[in-house]
Amino acid sequence: MAKAEAPATVANLGPGFDVFGLAIDGYHDTVKAEEDEGVRIVTDDPVPTDPRRNTAGLVALEMTRKFDLPGVTIEIEKGVPTGGLGSSAASAVAAALAIDKEFGLGLEEPELLRLAAEGERAAAGEPHYDNVAPSLLGGFVVWRSPEHHAKLTPPPDLRLITATPTHVKVPTRKAREALRRQPPDLPDVVENLSAVALMVHAAHEGDAETFARMMNVDRISEPVRKRFIPGYDELKEKALEAGALAFTVSGAGPTVVAACLKEDAEDVEETLREATDERWLIKTHRPDTEGAR
Ligand code: HSE
Repeated sequence: MAKAEAPATVANLGPGFDVFGLAIDGYHDTVKAEEDEGVRIVTDDPVPTDPRRNTAGLVALEMTRKFDLPGVTIEIEKGVPTGGLGSSAASAVAAALAIDKEFGLGLEEPELLRLAAEGERAAAGEPHYDNVAPSLLGGFVVWRSPEHHAKLTPPPDLRLITATPTHVKVPTRKAREALRRQPPDLPDVVENLSAVALMVHAAHEGDAETFARMMNVDRISEPVRKRFIPGYDELKEKALEAGALAFTVSGAGPTVVAACLKEDAEDVEETLREATDERWLIKTHRPDTEGAR
Protein backbone atom coordinates (compact mmCIF):
# COMPACT_ATOMS: atom_id res chain seq x y z
CA MET A 1 0.00 0.00 0.00
CA ALA A 2 1.28 3.49 -0.87
CA LYS A 3 0.02 6.74 0.61
CA ALA A 4 0.21 10.31 -0.72
CA GLU A 5 -0.96 13.70 0.51
CA ALA A 6 -1.61 16.75 -1.66
CA PRO A 7 -2.27 20.33 -0.47
CA ALA A 8 -5.11 22.73 -1.23
CA THR A 9 -4.40 25.43 -3.80
CA VAL A 10 -5.66 28.90 -4.69
CA ALA A 11 -5.94 29.23 -8.47
CA ASN A 12 -5.91 32.54 -10.39
CA LEU A 13 -4.71 34.59 -7.37
CA GLY A 14 -6.77 37.52 -8.68
CA PRO A 15 -5.45 38.53 -12.11
CA GLY A 16 -3.78 35.27 -13.22
CA PHE A 17 -6.81 33.50 -14.66
CA ASP A 18 -5.89 29.89 -15.59
CA VAL A 19 -2.18 30.78 -15.23
CA PHE A 20 -1.43 31.28 -11.51
CA GLY A 21 -1.81 28.82 -8.67
CA LEU A 22 -0.46 28.76 -5.14
CA ALA A 23 -0.22 25.78 -2.77
CA ILE A 24 -1.31 26.55 0.80
CA ASP A 25 -0.88 24.73 4.08
CA GLY A 26 -3.71 23.77 6.43
CA TYR A 27 -5.88 21.63 4.14
CA HIS A 28 -4.82 18.50 2.27
CA ASP A 29 -6.28 15.30 0.77
CA THR A 30 -4.84 11.86 1.48
CA VAL A 31 -5.05 8.93 -0.94
CA LYS A 32 -3.92 5.35 -0.28
CA ALA A 33 -3.47 3.02 -3.26
CA GLU A 34 -3.35 -0.76 -3.12
CA GLU A 35 -3.05 -3.20 -6.03
CA ASP A 36 -6.34 -4.99 -6.72
CA GLU A 37 -8.49 -6.32 -9.57
CA GLY A 38 -10.36 -3.46 -11.31
CA VAL A 39 -10.64 0.10 -9.98
CA ARG A 40 -12.48 0.62 -6.70
CA ILE A 41 -12.94 3.70 -4.49
CA VAL A 42 -13.30 3.52 -0.72
CA THR A 43 -14.13 6.65 1.28
CA ASP A 44 -16.08 7.89 4.29
CA ASP A 45 -16.43 11.33 2.71
CA PRO A 46 -19.33 12.58 0.57
CA VAL A 47 -17.63 12.13 -2.84
CA PRO A 48 -18.78 9.86 -5.70
CA THR A 49 -17.49 6.27 -5.45
CA ASP A 50 -18.08 5.59 -9.15
CA PRO A 51 -14.51 5.95 -10.50
CA ARG A 52 -15.82 7.63 -13.67
CA ARG A 53 -17.38 10.42 -11.60
CA ASN A 54 -14.52 10.95 -9.18
CA THR A 55 -11.36 12.90 -10.00
CA ALA A 56 -9.09 10.38 -8.25
CA GLY A 57 -11.07 7.55 -9.89
CA LEU A 58 -10.52 9.00 -13.36
CA VAL A 59 -6.80 9.15 -12.67
CA ALA A 60 -6.83 5.51 -11.51
CA LEU A 61 -8.78 4.39 -14.60
CA GLU A 62 -6.39 6.24 -16.91
CA MET A 63 -3.29 4.88 -15.15
CA THR A 64 -4.49 1.25 -15.12
CA ARG A 65 -5.31 1.54 -18.85
CA LYS A 66 -2.14 3.31 -19.86
CA PHE A 67 0.29 1.18 -17.85
CA ASP A 68 -1.64 -2.07 -18.16
CA LEU A 69 -2.05 -2.44 -14.39
CA PRO A 70 -4.32 -5.18 -12.93
CA GLY A 71 -6.33 -2.60 -10.97
CA VAL A 72 -6.21 -0.57 -7.79
CA THR A 73 -8.30 0.21 -4.75
CA ILE A 74 -7.94 3.82 -3.71
CA GLU A 75 -8.95 5.07 -0.31
CA ILE A 76 -9.69 8.80 -0.25
CA GLU A 77 -9.66 11.01 2.83
CA LYS A 78 -10.84 14.53 2.00
CA GLY A 79 -9.29 17.38 3.92
CA VAL A 80 -9.71 20.12 1.31
CA PRO A 81 -13.17 21.73 1.41
CA THR A 82 -15.08 21.68 -1.88
CA GLY A 83 -15.50 24.86 -3.90
CA GLY A 84 -12.51 26.93 -4.94
CA LEU A 85 -9.56 25.39 -3.11
CA GLY A 86 -8.53 22.80 -5.67
CA SER A 87 -10.29 19.98 -3.86
CA SER A 88 -10.68 17.84 -6.98
CA ALA A 89 -7.08 18.57 -8.02
CA ALA A 90 -5.71 17.56 -4.58
CA SER A 91 -7.44 14.16 -4.83
CA ALA A 92 -6.26 13.69 -8.41
CA VAL A 93 -2.65 14.60 -7.57
CA ALA A 94 -2.57 12.40 -4.46
CA ALA A 95 -4.05 9.50 -6.49
CA ALA A 96 -1.49 9.86 -9.30
CA LEU A 97 1.37 9.95 -6.81
CA ALA A 98 0.09 7.05 -4.67
CA ILE A 99 -0.51 4.81 -7.73
CA ASP A 100 2.90 5.74 -9.16
CA LYS A 101 4.51 4.62 -5.89
CA GLU A 102 2.36 1.50 -5.40
CA PHE A 103 3.33 0.14 -8.82
CA GLY A 104 6.89 1.56 -8.89
CA LEU A 105 6.21 3.38 -12.17
CA GLY A 106 8.79 6.10 -11.50
CA LEU A 107 6.86 8.66 -13.56
CA GLU A 108 8.39 12.05 -14.30
CA GLU A 109 6.72 15.31 -13.31
CA PRO A 110 5.14 16.26 -16.69
CA GLU A 111 3.49 12.83 -16.92
CA LEU A 112 2.17 13.02 -13.35
CA LEU A 113 0.79 16.47 -14.17
CA ARG A 114 -0.97 15.24 -17.30
CA LEU A 115 -2.52 12.30 -15.46
CA ALA A 116 -3.71 14.43 -12.55
CA ALA A 117 -5.16 17.03 -14.95
CA GLU A 118 -7.22 14.27 -16.58
CA GLY A 119 -8.95 13.91 -13.22
CA GLU A 120 -9.98 17.56 -13.45
CA ARG A 121 -12.22 16.67 -16.35
CA ALA A 122 -14.70 15.31 -13.81
CA ALA A 123 -14.99 18.75 -12.19
CA ALA A 124 -14.53 21.22 -15.04
CA GLY A 125 -15.31 19.27 -18.20
CA GLU A 126 -11.81 20.00 -19.51
CA PRO A 127 -8.36 19.39 -18.10
CA HIS A 128 -6.78 22.49 -16.57
CA TYR A 129 -3.66 22.73 -14.50
CA ASP A 130 -3.65 25.80 -12.30
CA ASN A 131 -4.68 23.76 -9.25
CA VAL A 132 -3.05 20.47 -10.21
CA ALA A 133 0.41 21.95 -10.81
CA PRO A 134 0.85 23.81 -7.49
CA SER A 135 -0.70 20.90 -5.58
CA LEU A 136 1.91 18.55 -7.03
CA LEU A 137 4.89 20.93 -7.05
CA GLY A 138 4.12 23.28 -4.15
CA GLY A 139 4.88 27.00 -4.20
CA PHE A 140 3.64 29.65 -6.62
CA VAL A 141 3.22 28.16 -10.08
CA VAL A 142 3.05 30.10 -13.34
CA TRP A 143 1.43 27.74 -15.81
CA ARG A 144 1.53 27.57 -19.58
CA SER A 145 1.84 23.88 -20.48
CA PRO A 146 3.24 20.63 -19.08
CA GLU A 147 6.55 21.50 -20.80
CA HIS A 148 6.52 25.23 -19.98
CA HIS A 149 5.76 26.29 -16.45
CA ALA A 150 7.66 27.74 -13.53
CA LYS A 151 7.61 27.09 -9.83
CA LEU A 152 8.50 30.26 -7.93
CA THR A 153 8.97 30.82 -4.23
CA PRO A 154 6.02 32.78 -2.82
CA PRO A 155 6.90 35.70 -0.51
CA PRO A 156 7.32 34.09 2.93
CA ASP A 157 5.46 36.89 4.76
CA LEU A 158 2.33 36.41 2.67
CA ARG A 159 -0.72 35.05 4.46
CA LEU A 160 -3.97 33.98 2.83
CA ILE A 161 -7.22 33.80 4.72
CA THR A 162 -9.79 31.62 2.98
CA ALA A 163 -13.52 31.72 3.64
CA THR A 164 -15.53 28.84 2.21
CA PRO A 165 -19.34 29.09 2.23
CA THR A 166 -20.28 25.43 2.72
CA HIS A 167 -23.94 26.23 1.94
CA VAL A 168 -23.16 27.61 -1.54
CA LYS A 169 -22.44 25.41 -4.56
CA VAL A 170 -20.92 26.92 -7.70
CA PRO A 171 -19.94 24.15 -10.14
CA THR A 172 -16.64 25.03 -11.88
CA ARG A 173 -18.30 24.30 -15.21
CA LYS A 174 -20.96 26.95 -14.52
CA ALA A 175 -18.39 29.49 -13.30
CA ARG A 176 -16.40 29.00 -16.52
CA GLU A 177 -19.45 29.29 -18.75
CA ALA A 178 -20.35 32.60 -17.08
CA LEU A 179 -16.95 34.00 -18.11
CA ARG A 180 -17.42 32.92 -21.69
CA ARG A 181 -20.69 34.84 -21.83
CA GLN A 182 -19.01 38.01 -20.54
CA PRO A 183 -15.51 38.21 -22.07
CA PRO A 184 -13.17 41.03 -20.99
CA ASP A 185 -12.40 44.14 -23.10
CA LEU A 186 -8.87 45.08 -24.09
CA PRO A 187 -8.35 47.58 -21.18
CA ASP A 188 -9.43 44.83 -18.77
CA VAL A 189 -6.84 42.48 -20.23
CA VAL A 190 -4.15 45.16 -19.91
CA GLU A 191 -5.06 45.72 -16.23
CA ASN A 192 -4.74 42.01 -15.49
CA LEU A 193 -1.54 41.63 -17.51
CA SER A 194 0.23 44.42 -15.67
CA ALA A 195 -0.75 43.00 -12.27
CA VAL A 196 0.33 39.50 -13.31
CA ALA A 197 3.75 40.73 -14.41
CA LEU A 198 4.25 42.63 -11.14
CA MET A 199 3.28 39.55 -9.10
CA VAL A 200 5.96 37.48 -10.79
CA HIS A 201 8.48 40.24 -10.08
CA ALA A 202 7.27 40.50 -6.46
CA ALA A 203 7.74 36.74 -6.00
CA HIS A 204 11.35 37.03 -7.17
CA GLU A 205 11.89 39.94 -4.78
CA GLY A 206 10.15 38.22 -1.86
CA ASP A 207 7.87 41.28 -1.74
CA ALA A 208 4.69 40.12 -0.01
CA GLU A 209 3.10 43.58 -0.07
CA THR A 210 3.21 44.09 -3.84
CA PHE A 211 2.27 40.47 -4.43
CA ALA A 212 -0.83 40.84 -2.22
CA ARG A 213 -1.81 44.27 -3.58
CA MET A 214 -1.70 43.01 -7.16
CA MET A 215 -3.92 40.07 -6.19
CA ASN A 216 -6.64 42.68 -5.75
CA VAL A 217 -6.54 43.62 -9.46
CA ASP A 218 -8.84 41.43 -11.52
CA ARG A 219 -11.10 42.66 -14.29
CA ILE A 220 -11.63 39.24 -15.89
CA SER A 221 -12.96 36.79 -13.33
CA GLU A 222 -14.02 38.65 -10.16
CA PRO A 223 -16.60 41.01 -11.75
CA VAL A 224 -18.44 38.05 -13.29
CA ARG A 225 -18.11 35.48 -10.55
CA LYS A 226 -18.67 37.54 -7.40
CA ARG A 227 -22.40 37.49 -8.05
CA PHE A 228 -22.43 33.76 -7.19
CA ILE A 229 -21.09 34.52 -3.71
CA PRO A 230 -23.50 35.88 -1.07
CA GLY A 231 -22.40 39.14 0.57
CA TYR A 232 -19.23 39.36 -1.53
CA ASP A 233 -18.88 43.15 -1.72
CA GLU A 234 -19.53 43.63 1.99
CA LEU A 235 -17.02 40.93 2.96
CA LYS A 236 -14.44 42.50 0.68
CA GLU A 237 -14.91 45.94 2.18
CA LYS A 238 -14.54 44.60 5.73
CA ALA A 239 -11.48 42.50 4.90
CA LEU A 240 -9.73 45.48 3.29
CA GLU A 241 -10.61 47.68 6.26
CA ALA A 242 -9.12 45.08 8.61
CA GLY A 243 -5.76 45.20 6.84
CA ALA A 244 -6.12 42.83 3.89
CA LEU A 245 -4.36 44.07 0.75
CA ALA A 246 -6.53 41.95 -1.52
CA PHE A 247 -9.82 40.13 -1.44
CA THR A 248 -10.81 38.02 -4.40
CA VAL A 249 -12.46 34.82 -5.58
CA SER A 250 -10.37 31.69 -4.97
CA GLY A 251 -10.26 29.71 -8.21
CA ALA A 252 -13.76 29.42 -9.61
CA GLY A 253 -15.28 30.08 -6.15
CA PRO A 254 -17.38 30.16 -4.08
CA THR A 255 -14.45 30.24 -1.64
CA VAL A 256 -13.08 33.76 -1.25
CA VAL A 257 -9.55 34.63 -0.26
CA ALA A 258 -8.01 37.63 1.48
CA ALA A 259 -4.27 38.29 1.17
CA CYS A 260 -2.26 40.21 3.74
CA LEU A 261 1.06 40.49 5.52
CA LYS A 262 1.60 38.04 8.35
CA GLU A 263 1.19 40.71 11.06
CA ASP A 264 -2.36 41.49 9.87
CA ALA A 265 -3.58 37.91 9.44
CA GLU A 266 -5.20 37.58 12.87
CA ASP A 267 -7.25 40.78 12.42
CA VAL A 268 -8.39 39.80 8.94
CA GLU A 269 -9.35 36.28 10.04
CA GLU A 270 -11.27 37.64 13.05
CA THR A 271 -13.09 40.18 10.88
CA LEU A 272 -14.14 37.52 8.36
CA ARG A 273 -15.34 35.28 11.20
CA GLU A 274 -17.45 38.09 12.65
CA ALA A 275 -18.87 39.01 9.23
CA THR A 276 -19.99 35.44 8.41
CA ASP A 277 -21.84 32.65 10.21
CA GLU A 278 -21.04 29.05 11.15
CA ARG A 279 -21.70 27.85 7.60
CA TRP A 280 -18.46 29.48 6.49
CA LEU A 281 -15.11 27.76 7.03
CA ILE A 282 -12.45 30.37 7.77
CA LYS A 283 -8.74 29.59 7.90
CA THR A 284 -5.39 31.38 7.72
CA HIS A 285 -2.73 29.75 5.52
CA ARG A 286 0.96 30.10 4.80
CA PRO A 287 2.17 29.23 1.34
CA ASP A 288 3.11 25.53 1.05
CA THR A 289 6.42 25.21 -0.76
CA GLU A 290 6.70 21.41 -0.68
CA GLY A 291 3.64 20.25 -2.62
CA ALA A 292 2.42 16.66 -2.70
CA ARG A 293 4.36 14.07 -0.71
N1 HSE B 1 -8.64 28.71 -13.29
C1 HSE B 1 -9.80 27.92 -13.04
C2 HSE B 1 -11.02 28.81 -13.11
C3 HSE B 1 -9.69 27.29 -11.68
O1 HSE B 1 -10.96 29.92 -12.59
O2 HSE B 1 -12.02 28.40 -13.69
C4 HSE B 1 -10.81 26.37 -11.35
O3 HSE B 1 -10.53 25.74 -10.13
